[in-house]
Amino acid sequence: ALNCPEEVDVFKVPHSRMKELVDKYLAMVTDTNFANVHHMTNLLENLVDAFQEFRAHEQIENKYIMKKLKAKLNALSIRSSAVCNCHSDNRLTEMLRLLQDGYQCRDKSEVDRENYGIKLRSALEDFTRKFIPHMEEEEEVFQPMLMKYFTFEELRSLKSKVIRKHQQT
Ligand code: FEO
Repeated sequence: ALNCPEEVDVFKVPHSRMKELVDKYLAMVTDTNFANVHHMTNLLENLVDAFQEFRAHEQIENKYIMKKLKAKLNALSIRSSAVCNCHSDNRLTEMLRLLQDGYQCRDKSEVDRENYGIKLRSALEDFTRKFIPHMEEEEEVFQPMLMKYFTFEELRSLKSKVIRKHQQT
């Protein structure tokens, strides 16, 4: 986040990892020849890993950041609907389901696989178009809120917990 000291920036490190995964899958999906079952399988495996990492990231944010922020705001009697809603859609579940469809599709014809490839590319682009601004919102909206309502020490310890939890996944 802008003007945020490194020690208390809870989003920066995990988000650079998430952005690295995004860059990797965008490059990979562009290069994948869906007519080739090995290519396709390799892509699917990488995507499942990436989306499981996204899901773990979201769960860590819910549990260690959003829940804490919400509790703090409640204690101060401040109402904010944005805090609890930012992970409420199920786009990660939908993407993981689409990837499972891909595994099924491997036994089908080349045309079916190529059609699946078109669908997957478009779903990934759509996901990415929302995911990047979502991370920016966390950095630009939630990080300043955290800095407003938590002490430097509280945030420093929150950040190390968040990093630790990401490393355990
Ligand atoms: Fe940091 Fe909610 O993705």
